[in-house]
Amino acid sequence: MHFESDRITRLILAASKKAHRETGASPDSRIVKIVEWPVTCTVGPGLEGAIACESKVGYVNGAQGGLSYRGYDIFDLCAHSNYEEVCFLLLIGNLPSKAELRGFSDKLRDYLHIPDVLRQLAGFPIERMNPMAALRLGTNLMRHEQTDLDFLRGKADEAKIGTDEDSIPMETLPRGEEHAIYEFRRRQPIRDRNLAACCRLISGVASMAAAIARMREGHLPLAPDPELSYAGNVLYMTSGERPSAEETRIMDVALILHADHGMNASTFAALVVASTLADVYSSVSAGIGALTGPLHGGANEQVMHMLRGIGSVANVKPWVKATLAEKKRVMGFGHRVYKVYDPRARVLAPLAALSGRGKVANKGLFQIAAALETEIASRLGKKGIFPNVDFYSGLVYTGLGISERMFTPMFAVSRVAGWTARILEYLKNNRIFRPRVMYSGAVDRHYVPIAARRPARRKKR
Ligand code: CMC
Repeated sequence: MHFESDRITRLILAASKKAHRETGASPDSRIVKIVEWPVTCTVGPGLEGAIACESKVGYVNGAQGGLSYRGYDIFDLCAHSNYEEVCFLLLIGNLPSKAELRGFSDKLRDYLHIPDVLRQLAGFPIERMNPMAALRLGTNLMRHEQTDLDFLRGKADEAKIGTDEDSIPMETLPRGEEHAIYEFRRRQPIRDRNLAACCRLISGVASMAAAIARMREGHLPLAPDPELSYAGNVLYMTSGERPSAEETRIMDVALILHADHGMNASTFAALVVASTLADVYSSVSAGIGALTGPLHGGANEQVMHMLRGIGSVANVKPWVKATLAEKKRVMGFGHRVYKVYDPRARVLAPLAALSGRGKVANKGLFQIAAALETEIASRLGKKGIFPNVDFYSGLVYTGLGISERMFTPMFAVSRVAGWTARILEYLKNNRIFRPRVMYSGAVDRHYVPIAARRPARRKKR
């Protein structure tokens, strides 16, 4: 057990060494600046270059292929941390003490229990729905079910006031203890309520994704196993089998790698909704919607179709030639920010090789992927196009027994941590997002009554 875990750590450390050697990837302390608004920047299409907000949650170094969460290098976190700790780090801002981590992990495990939401979800034709749409639906059901808990009954989050505090608004009756213990319910500050909702979502989205995977195959959802970690439970609740230590560790690393990534499209979508002061559930639901697309989180599923379509290592070169000649995109390659190798892909590649021996063999797909990487790097590397996080993640998930349609939901499971951390941060100093648009349409047209209109002539493209 330890051997496997150490092997994974060694693979991560080797990937880290390679990254540092090739791109010098390390967070650069010179990047930290005091932001003074308004900032001047050049904005391109797709808001390229625009600065949406200030953040201390995570940093993406596109030129050097670096990624850090709250200042901690992603390679170090993958090698030494676990997903629960990373969630705490992202949400709270620092690494937890032993006791804090235990309490936080227990809370996340507790929040994996959402039987009422799952019962409601099972009332929908999940097996016929796009799994990401089902996940969004589930998140909205959670909103309905859970907001009361966040606001009123959240026992674990309930504020307690000591008897030595001033200005006590009301007392409960002593309950026969040797020394009277007074507990007072007070309205939680909005931040605490939001924090409770964030933790519920981190766990709830995982339980829903696992339940959706099972319902799609005609099985009933499973309750979490109190003995397992968050990563272990994601795998167990999806497959119904207790994962091995190695599988759990690989899943844990995959969760860490996908947890946060700057102002990506889904994070921005979640923040836009949060900035209207809509609730965290609606904001996360927006994030799930944005992550669905093939240019974003949906790419991992497309990569598997592509690799299967290529079919053999021998077909890689002719396939690439034809694809690029048609000016088509190669899924799992390129990135708006990284112009060097994506550090997440550096870790996922060796894990894909390892997990290919897992529950579902990758049937030579890893070899095709490796040959494709070499071919694309030789043709497009000069343009800064290398594998991104989605290129090898599908192979990792497949090795863990996760079905293709569930790849993007699994990405969402991890990313809830980043979405919610950034929402909490943004709400501290909220301003509604409202960019402008460059209008290039017609002006001064005169309204023509319907009877007098002629069919508009279509412009030839
Ligand atoms: N295959 C072939 N050419 C590409 C690719 C690709 N995957 N990506 C970018 N290019 C070329 C593009 O054709 C363009 O070339 P030229 O300047 O000659 O016209 C140049 O690179 C710049 O492309 P862009 O469209 O301006 O880049 P972007 O920053 O708008 O798009 C991207 C970023 C990730 C949407 C894009 O690289 C892409 O479509 N990749 C494939 C889909 C994919 O893997 N998405 C996952 C992204 S990473 C994780 C995530 O967000 O989920």
